[in-house]
Amino acid sequence: MDSLSVDHLIGIKDLTTNDIELIFKTADAFKQVINRPIKKVPSLRDITIANLFFENSTRTRLSFELAEKRLSADTVNFSAASSSVKKGETLIDTVNNILSMKVDMVVMRHPNPGAAKFLSERINATVINAGDGTHEHPTQALLDAYSIRERLGEVKGKKVVIVGDILHSRVALSNIFCLQKLGAEVMVCGPTTLVPRYIHELGVKVEHNLQRALEWCDVANMLRIQLERQEIKYFPSLREYSMQYGLNKEILDNLSKEIVVMHPGPINRGVEITSDVADSVQSIILPQVENGVAIRMAAIYLLASKIKRE
Ligand code: CP
Repeated sequence: MDSLSVDHLIGIKDLTTNDIELIFKTADAFKQVINRPIKKVPSLRDITIANLFFENSTRTRLSFELAEKRLSADTVNFSAASSSVKKGETLIDTVNNILSMKVDMVVMRHPNPGAAKFLSERINATVINAGDGTHEHPTQALLDAYSIRERLGEVKGKKVVIVGDILHSRVALSNIFCLQKLGAEVMVCGPTTLVPRYIHELGVKVEHNLQRALEWCDVANMLRIQLERQEIKYFPSLREYSMQYGLNKEILDNLSKEIVVMHPGPINRGVEITSDVADSVQSIILPQVENGVAIRMAAIYLLASKIKRE
């Protein structure tokens, strides 16, 4: 059986193009499974997975839980808000206590960049990063690229613009790595204050004018403004941001070609995207969510097959 080059899924940066293609091929098979009347396979009956969420999540958390259940794994769920972390317990102590209950794999979302890697170097379990602060969100990037492949046939040669709060976005960084590994051209677009100065070193184009960016691209990935990570004001008001960087139907309809619109969620309707765009036929926002389950099943399955049994 083909296998991944990594034992943990910390970031897209660590994956080879073959790894990504193997995840996609495996996800193709699981997508068929989750569209059958019986949506389950017994593959991971001997695996226990802990979902540790130290930060809010709707899509990622539910998607991982469903993926694990579809693979017949046993799961335990942990939320920092209702845990002993509030009583001062460290991350390592919290996780080691959970692992002593014979857990094989940890899926973790954490507000600190590097938290998933830190954990993977200190515990005896497979770690999947479900988003670490402003760093990476590898399964989101995989499901995004998989959704582009599904809609447009392939990712190679496609032009993808990522619009919005690039500075605070783990989705942007993971998407840049993933799309480039698959041969797409990537542009970022946003106010100068929300586009990091070093970004061109990653080989992406930078454009501050939304209209020009949209005319260039085949796919626009609209990001949310991450107000929860902003300690200072990066633009005068949400209204002003929306007037310059919000995607509405009039802009979309006046482009010289039909583009695909994506959003990782959660959406702020009327800020980065209007409802008529989010709900249009050009939007693949809900297929992205559907594909997230198949992609996460594939990542979990492939990583579980690397766990060494005593
Ligand atoms: N896309 C994403 O990570 O959404 P959640 O924060 O709801 O998990």
